[in-house]
Amino acid sequence: MEWTRDMRYRHYHEMTDTEEKKLLEKVHKSIWRQQFHIQPPYGLLNDPNGFAFYQGKYHLFYQWFPFGPVHGMKHWYHVESNDLVHWEDKGLAMAPEYNHESHGIFSGTGIVKDELLYLFYTANKRDENWNRESCQSFAVMNKDEKIIKQEKPIIPKQPDGYTANFRDPKVWQHKDKFYMIVGAERENHTGCLLLYQSDDLLDWSCQGELKTDYEQFGYMWECPDIFQVDGKDVLMLSPQGLEPVGDTYQNVHNSGCFIGHFDDEKHHFKSDTFQELDAGFDFYAPQTTQAPDGRQILIGWMGLPDTSYPADKDMWANCLTIPRELRIKNNKIYQSPVKEMVEKRGSVAEWHGKLNGKERTLDDFSDTVYELNCDMTVEDGIAGLKLRTGKEEETLIYLDTKRNKIVLDRTNSGIPIAVDYGTVRQVTCTDNNISLRVFVDTSSVEIFVNEGEFVFTTRIFPKEESKGVKLFAENTTASFDIKRWEYLSSSNPKML
Ligand code: FRU
Repeated sequence: MEWTRDMRYRHYHEMTDTEEKKLLEKVHKSIWRQQFHIQPPYGLLNDPNGFAFYQGKYHLFYQWFPFGPVHGMKHWYHVESNDLVHWEDKGLAMAPEYNHESHGIFSGTGIVKDELLYLFYTANKRDENWNRESCQSFAVMNKDEKIIKQEKPIIPKQPDGYTANFRDPKVWQHKDKFYMIVGAERENHTGCLLLYQSDDLLDWSCQGELKTDYEQFGYMWECPDIFQVDGKDVLMLSPQGLEPVGDTYQNVHNSGCFIGHFDDEKHHFKSDTFQELDAGFDFYAPQTTQAPDGRQILIGWMGLPDTSYPADKDMWANCLTIPRELRIKNNKIYQSPVKEMVEKRGSVAEWHGKLNGKERTLDDFSDTVYELNCDMTVEDGIAGLKLRTGKEEETLIYLDTKRNKIVLDRTNSGIPIAVDYGTVRQVTCTDNNISLRVFVDTSSVEIFVNEGEFVFTTRIFPKEESKGVKLFAENTTASFDIKRWEYLSSSNPKML
């Protein structure tokens, strides 16, 4: 199906009942619908937006194109939760209304002030020659969850010296002032962040760039976020156009963070290393919020720009990751699933033992939706897990002690995705003992290694009947302590 501009730039309110019915029928038949991940009812989901704790609940929005699995007129969709695990579907939150947002309302962030949730976003417009115009705007949500958009943008355009790739405002309070950073592209096609300041969230003044120690790092910086974890400042972003370096930056675009110090006088974020956040295939545009107990919680888009996926044919695309708690250890960011995830656990199956040069099928582990924890020690060689195994299908996660690598291999995971970017991802690990927490949903796998030291986030599209779980140890002895919990689904259709 060819998606013309006219088909991509339509408002949700133009959707007829017949169109919606058809979309729902297609989605309903999809064998790849997720069971415990936030996914669109139909159409395409991308970045998480406006993530905030407000009036006793977590509110989360996402970029949504309603009509099909392509990028087009973006809207904001709303879900909310008491516990980060059970999410209620609140439907459409915001649609484009004004001339300056005629081609979509793009990503942004939320901040609570005076009992209102302010939602900052980018208004996107294309002129008659299809040139982009971007401005920054906001809406407010009140206690009754009524959202009202402000008609007048707060930042009407980018400053001189920057292109109209100027989007994704992050707003935060620092001392007695509010700050905003906006992702930008310099006219010389390098990425950066522009910094604004305000006393009241309404009047903003441009402070120039938020300087970093990475002047030349990709051509456009998207979706910035800034926050504190374990007493350090963290600046997170999704720079576009990085070339692969060793095992890192293997995807079309990648996300990562600087750990360092935000200097509010020099407008400088000091940090000399950028750390990639995820070692898997499908992770982009993450965003965080602070939980009432102080935890910094991250949710990412489990997908990538410029990438098509097998479920597209069923008229829906993408999902969000499970929420993760951030910590810093040895100046490295660690991500672990939020502790509330254990509420999903049902009955457990276990296996403890040793393997030598063999494969073992764990019959009572077979499933398509579960959490699996595995501690393994590998003497000298390759050993690990095979997930979603079936006729000619398997997804491998293993430790190779000879090469000091932990490897995720989706070469035979089912219908191929983005194979031009390779089908194997790996990280360096010199231990011969590792722990894995693996979350398997109908069409995804998220693997947290060593309490969150590394994460691999990945979509897979195997056959429904590929449900097997196997252990293997090639030319070596390996011992495994492994548990697998079934995951309970909600009985309320409006809840995940
Ligand atoms: C990142 C991004 C953002 C933009 C949004 C549009 O995936 O390109 O920069 O605001 O998606 O949907």
